Amino acid sequence: MNPQLAEVVEAAPGKLAAVQSLEELDRVEAELLGRRSVLAQLQKAIGSLPPEERPALGRDLQQARATLVELVETRRRALEREIADRVATADRVDVTLDAFRLPLGSRHLIYQTIEEVCEIFVSLGYVVAEGPEAEIAWYNFDALNTPPTHPARAETDTLYIDFGDPATEPLLRTHTSPMQIRWMEAHRPPVAVVVPGKVYRADTIDASHLPVFHQVEGLMVGEDVRFSDLKGTLAHFARSFFGPQTQVRFRPSFFPFTEPSAELDVSCFACRGGEPGCRVCGGEGWLELLGCGMVDPNVFDAVGYDPKSVTGFAFGMGVERLAMVRHSIDDIRLFVDNDLRFLRQFP
Ligand code: DAH
Repeated sequence: MNPQLAEVVEAAPGKLAAVQSLEELDRVEAELLGRRSVLAQLQKAIGSLPPEERPALGRDLQQARATLVELVETRRRALEREIADRVATADRVDVTLDAFRLPLGSRHLIYQTIEEVCEIFVSLGYVVAEGPEAEIAWYNFDALNTPPTHPARAETDTLYIDFGDPATEPLLRTHTSPMQIRWMEAHRPPVAVVVPGKVYRADTIDASHLPVFHQVEGLMVGEDVRFSDLKGTLAHFARSFFGPQTQVRFRPSFFPFTEPSAELDVSCFACRGGEPGCRVCGGEGWLELLGCGMVDPNVFDAVGYDPKSVTGFAFGMGVERLAMVRHSIDDIRLFVDNDLRFLRQFP
C-alpha cells in the first residue's frame, strides 16, 4: 500500500479511541476522509500520475477509504452507546432512596389477647359470638339467677341508661355472661361458644380498675358434660396460653349462675411456684385467672333447656387481667393511655 495511506490507516484506531463526543468524531472523520484529508489529496493527484501507476493507487485509495469508513462507523456506534449509558445512569431513579413512610399501627394488646384466647377454644370446636353491649336487666341479671335484691344490681356498680321506663331497665352489660342466655335461647344443645367483648362497671379508675374492660365468656352445654370436662378444658387453655408447665388449681367460689362455682388459679409462670418476693405473684406461687362453674339449673329453666337432660359449664375471664399476668403489666391504665412507648412493645 502507498506508504502515506498506510500511515493514515495505522494511526486511525488510536485517534478514534481518544474521541469522547460525537462532535469530536465528526472532526476526526473530516480529518480522515474529508476534502483536506490525505485521501482527498492523493485522489486529486491521481490524474497527474503516469497511466500505469494509476490503478495501483486507485485500489489503495479504495481499500483505505473502506477501512477508515468502517473504523469511524464502529467508533460512532460505540460512542452512541456510551453516551446513552451515561445519560441513563445520570437520570436513573434511585429506587433505594428512603420514601416517606406511613407509620403502620399494630393490633392493640387487648385485641391480640382476645384473638389468641378465641383461637385456643376454636381449636377445641367452640364457635365465637358477640353480643350487645347495651343489655336489658333480664339477660344481664334475672335469667342468670341474679334476682333484683342481689348487690351486683346496685346503682353504685352498674351503669343504667335512663330511657324513662324503669320496667325495661336498660344498662351497659356488667359482664359477657348475658350472651349465655341469648345463645341458648337461639340454639338447641349441644352448644360450645366463646364470647369476647367489652363490659362496663361504675368503678373508680385505679391501677386495677377501669369502667370499661374486656372479658371472654365461655359456655359448653350438652348431655353428660361434667366438672371434669370443665377442669380438663380450662387446664388445656391455661397451658396453651401460659406454657405447658403451667399448673392449675380450682378454689371453691360463688357465682349466682353456676353451682358449684370455682375460681381458677395458675401457677406463677415467673417463679414456678412460691419464690419469696416474686415480682409477679408476690410469693404466693399462684395467680388468680378466672371464674367458672357448672351451669345452675335455674339458668337452664330461664332459657327453656331441660336441666334433667343437659348439663354444662361456663367460665368468664378478664382480658386485661390475662394480659397483665402474662406480660407483668402492673397498671391497667396503660392499656388506655395511648402511650406509644407502651403500645410499641406489643407489635
Ligand atoms: N361473669 C363473671 C364476672 O364478671 C365471671 C364468670 C364467672 C363468668 C363464672 C362465668 C362463670 O361464666 O361461670 O365476674
